Amino acid sequence: MIADLELIGLRKTYPNGATAVQDVALTVEQGEFVSLVGPSGCGKTTTLRMIAGFESITAGDVFIRGQRINDMPPEKRPTSTIFQNFALFPHMSVARNIEYGLAARGVKPAERAERSRRIMEKLDLLDIADRREAGLSGGQRQRVALARGLVVEPQILLLDEPLGALDANLRRSIQNELKLLQRTLGITFIFVTHAQSEALVLSDRIVVMNRGRIEQVSRPVDLYTRPQTPFVARFIGRNTLVGGKLTDASGSIETPYGPMRGVVANALLRRGDAAQIVLPSEALEPHRDGADHDRLVAQYDGNVLSARVLAVEVVAHTRLIRAALADGREILLEGHTGQGSAEGLAPGNPLLIGLRPEEATIVAAEQQQGKK
Ligand SMILES: Nc1ncnc2c1ncn2[C@@H]1O[C@H](COP(=O)(O)OP(=O)(O)OP(=O)(O)O)[C@@H](O)[C@H]1O
Ligand SMILES: [Mg+2]
Repeated sequence: MIADLELIGLRKTYPNGATAVQDVALTVEQGEFVSLVGPSGCGKTTTLRMIAGFESITAGDVFIRGQRINDMPPEKRPTSTIFQNFALFPHMSVARNIEYGLAARGVKPAERAERSRRIMEKLDLLDIADRREAGLSGGQRQRVALARGLVVEPQILLLDEPLGALDANLRRSIQNELKLLQRTLGITFIFVTHAQSEALVLSDRIVVMNRGRIEQVSRPVDLYTRPQTPFVARFIGRNTLVGGKLTDASGSIETPYGPMRGVVANALLRRGDAAQIVLPSEALEPHRDGADHDRLVAQYDGNVLSARVLAVEVVAHTRLIRAALADGREILLEGHTGQGSAEGLAPGNPLLIGLRPEEATIVAAEQQQGKK
């Protein structure tokens, strides 16, 4: 099957010499929902704009359905973009705003009206079809922007932080609409967001970018449970990273807190290499010290850490424990109140922390900043 979108060796160097995107390679299947996440300035918008045709491509190729479109103008591409800071035309009604893209593409008035009516129906906008932007709520404006992107029936919809300005509730309700629309229309979505939780909920796959490059492309659950790089381990979720030396390439590491075991994520790691073990806060299970140490060591296949409780916070059924490891380093445990054997733990109490080896991931040691 031909991929809907294929990026090959994509690079963008701006006229001022700054390289915003490099070596970006990505294949997206038809109907996939793919999110781009990463810190501010990592190149998400630049990547999106090269796909849409609003930014020239310094090197590499963009293919849509097997056709190379590097030099095709935006309005000829089967893409539609909803921008980070979108604006509606203030002097036009909602309906005219939505029809606008069709007019620009030469669609006849009768068909324009019919297509915009259909999309307004889908997005529950018919009641406000005659209003202007000034008379709309934030959520309504957002839905109009979506309708404007969808009405041209793009093959690929590019969305740059489309929900950024909304409050949490509205955001959730539009998230649901988005996902539903994407499923029913079968359109491919490339979705840029700052909000990890949004990407985790909506996406088939997530692309994590860092300093212009792709760090990892994974299904949401794998991104969470199997970070492949130190950057991803720090960026996604709440993990503690502990450095050490790989004593066995199949998953043993010697750390300052003793030997630990985990799943090695990086096939290039060899015995003797500097590495780090990623300890996810929600996989760490607290036990009172005095619990049978040998039994815990057997239960967790050796992965037992000694610590001291700093603070315990219980909200509903979720319990957060901040604890200090032997050298004072802080570690966070996040879980259900029934988990482990830690009832009645108070600050100052000794604590044993268990982690099943299959829930720990071993990644490379941190790269130095600026090292290529
Ligand atoms: N027109 C431009 N000229 C020069 N540099 C630019 C230009 N546009 C963006 N950049 C730089 O390119 C890098 C990537 O910018 P980009 O807008 O793609 O980041 P982003 O990931 O979308 O960030 P944010 O999350 O803040 O929107 C940044 O360092 C930015 O300063
Ligand atoms: Mg951006």
